[in-house]
Amino acid sequence: MDNLLNLRRYHRPVLLKETLDLLQLEPHLVVVDATFGFGGHGFEMAKRVDPGILIGFEKDPETYRIVVSSLPPITNIRLLNMGYERMDEGLLKVGLLSVDRVLFDLGISSFSLEGTGRGFTFRRDEPLDLRFNPNEGIPAYEFLNRASEREIEEVLRRYGEERRSRRIAREIVKSRPIRTTGDLAAIVDRIYPPQMRTKAKARVWQALRIYINDELNNLRRGLALALKHLKVGGILAVISFHSLEDRAVKTLREYPFVRALTRKPIVPSEEEIAQNPRSRSAKLRAYMKTAEVDVPSLLADERFANPFPRPRRRGRPRRRRRG
Ligand SMILES: C[S@@+](CC[C@H](N)C(=O)[O-])C[C@H]1O[C@@H](n2cnc3c(N)ncnc32)[C@H](O)[C@@H]1O
Repeated sequence: MDNLLNLRRYHRPVLLKETLDLLQLEPHLVVVDATFGFGGHGFEMAKRVDPGILIGFEKDPETYRIVVSSLPPITNIRLLNMGYERMDEGLLKVGLLSVDRVLFDLGISSFSLEGTGRGFTFRRDEPLDLRFNPNEGIPAYEFLNRASEREIEEVLRRYGEERRSRRIAREIVKSRPIRTTGDLAAIVDRIYPPQMRTKAKARVWQALRIYINDELNNLRRGLALALKHLKVGGILAVISFHSLEDRAVKTLREYPFVRALTRKPIVPSEEEIAQNPRSRSAKLRAYMKTAEVDVPSLLADERFANPFPRPRRRGRPRRRRRG
């Protein structure tokens, strides 16, 4: 138990009570926490469904290691070091293909921000990696050192809604090689006056993180798979942290296979924001599944499709995926 309480120092859960209320948990249910992190939501869900099972997905191997080593020897939690975009494979692995509840908490954990040394915060000078799983894909600095000015500009504009994307991209290309958060922060600092720098860096970091982890495609795939594996009558809850994420989640209400349980998104109280400023942009939406879902049709449907698929790398051979 002490071990579990200790995990709270790595991340404080957002909208915890509101999420648990919407999920209507009860003993014997099978539930998925698609972004287990440090279990701020997951442990509470597992407790409420016991002797049911919680299946947790966590992409970051370091977070996974810390949490697995804190789990009690007998537990109803099955934790997988795997992205939720591979939910099919994960559920097959634990032998539970149909589930009663799924939660996505899409933010970034305080640990990822401050403890991984992978450059998620511009407040420290670290290698600019930005991968949730450093064994997959390429680090952000490699992208910035190899991509064309136009590709970089497109990423900053689409995923960060950054107005000075062209200038920043030009400065990046001129200042190569980029290796650390400090290198990139210095570029943004040259372009923006002091009072605008923090927000500008937040946009640039968000854009690169989304691109490097292919977050918008993975989110759509994860949501579609969650709806496939949910039983009819099961509940999907999603906490999103910016408009590009929320757009995918919000669009689901247009489909006949769900009923929205939240007419408007639930947002944190002033008290929660005062205690945990990182919660301020959170939006919680929930749906009940009312009919079966065809994943390929949903992913191909233009209302749900990613409006900004990852820009194609022009003129270069595609990198082979490892593993
Ligand atoms: C906001 S945190 C979750 C916090 C958790 N609800 C808690 O209260 O402790 C989001 C977590 O999702 C993980 N993550 C990011 N992308 C993921 C993906 N595609 N699949 C699974 N986990 C992912 C991150 O590493 C991070 O630990």
